[in-house]
Amino acid sequence: MQAQPKPITGAPQWLEKSVKVASQQLKAAADAYQPGFNPRSTNTDGSTRLADYKDWITGFFPGSLWYGYELTGEDKLAKDAKRFTLGLDSLRYLTHTHDLGFMIYCSYGNAYRITKDKGYLPVLEQGAVNLSARFSPVTGVIRSWDFGEWKYPVIIDNMMNLEYLYWAAQQFRQPKYTNIASTHALTTIKNHFRADNSSYHVVDYDPKTGAVLQKGTHQGLTNESAWARGQAWGLYGYTMCYQNTKNQKFLAQAEKIAAYIMNHPNTPADKVPVWDYDVHNVKSERAPRDASAAAVIASALIELSTQVKDGKKYLDYAEDILKSLSGDQYLAKPGENNFFILKHSVGAFLFNSEIDTPLAYADYYYLEALKRYAEIKHYYKK
Ligand code: GLY
Repeated sequence: MQAQPKPITGAPQWLEKSVKVASQQLKAAADAYQPGFNPRSTNTDGSTRLADYKDWITGFFPGSLWYGYELTGEDKLAKDAKRFTLGLDSLRYLTHTHDLGFMIYCSYGNAYRITKDKGYLPVLEQGAVNLSARFSPVTGVIRSWDFGEWKYPVIIDNMMNLEYLYWAAQQFRQPKYTNIASTHALTTIKNHFRADNSSYHVVDYDPKTGAVLQKGTHQGLTNESAWARGQAWGLYGYTMCYQNTKNQKFLAQAEKIAAYIMNHPNTPADKVPVWDYDVHNVKSERAPRDASAAAVIASALIELSTQVKDGKKYLDYAEDILKSLSGDQYLAKPGENNFFILKHSVGAFLFNSEIDTPLAYADYYYLEALKRYAEIKHYYKK
């Protein structure tokens, strides 16, 4: 077991308050819900939407508990984090989705990073075997989904699973995982991005030849639009690819996506994007904000700020987002919001699913961003 984290100290009032609210919400949620059946969002009747271990969001709640523990040093959060992580033991048997990175690395990955308890390793080891088995050398990418009409669909979200493979390559001495991750990232640069550096959501490949069959969207406004969370996933994914490889192509891609996001004329003043950048009337009722995209962008930009010489512009932008999310408009009051931390995210607008609701991954990336920010600003006592 590693040394117990010390709570942050000397942080500005908005950050201290956010951590306090997060701690209260996380502890209440851990008491209210059961391991293996984790909080996902809020149903239209106001009840909590829970999801079993097979759902792509399943790792976020245990991961949030681990970040809560790191931000506060509270024993209860460590115990709850362990309980909800171990509730996902069956993840080692899943092979049907690329989301294994989200599901396993956010839960078991954080658990092992923080505790160094080897008991967490078997799930991490098998998960990497299962994820890497979804790679094809013909297409040069990891297959995302096994459902739908596509032949070999790959979504921009899949960039988020590569960090897990880079880590697993080192941990389990499997250099092929590094090759798989980097090949996926390079193929995605070639096929997923438009001239303005926004990305398609879904690219479908011919599994026999590797040719691109179709480019479009699943959760965005139109096939040619820039779905906000998709841009966030791309930014985060390439930032972590660069951190792991120092390949300049990955840094260049991350900075191009950052510029697209930071200069976008449809970004509202508080820097929390509407669910798709191509929703032009940002005041219309079809334009709810997506706090989850903002949280992912903030966490990625903080990381990116540490990897370039002129990183201040990224850190400043991330700080603006975090201050917005930590304000009354987005931050829940303790005991409300079904114990989620943030309000106002969007799952899939055109499917009429999870519109203007809390989302488990908004909370996860918000806490990760707060933790990264607190580290950079030295609010942790050594
Ligand atoms: N990865 C699924 C989503 O972002 O909605």
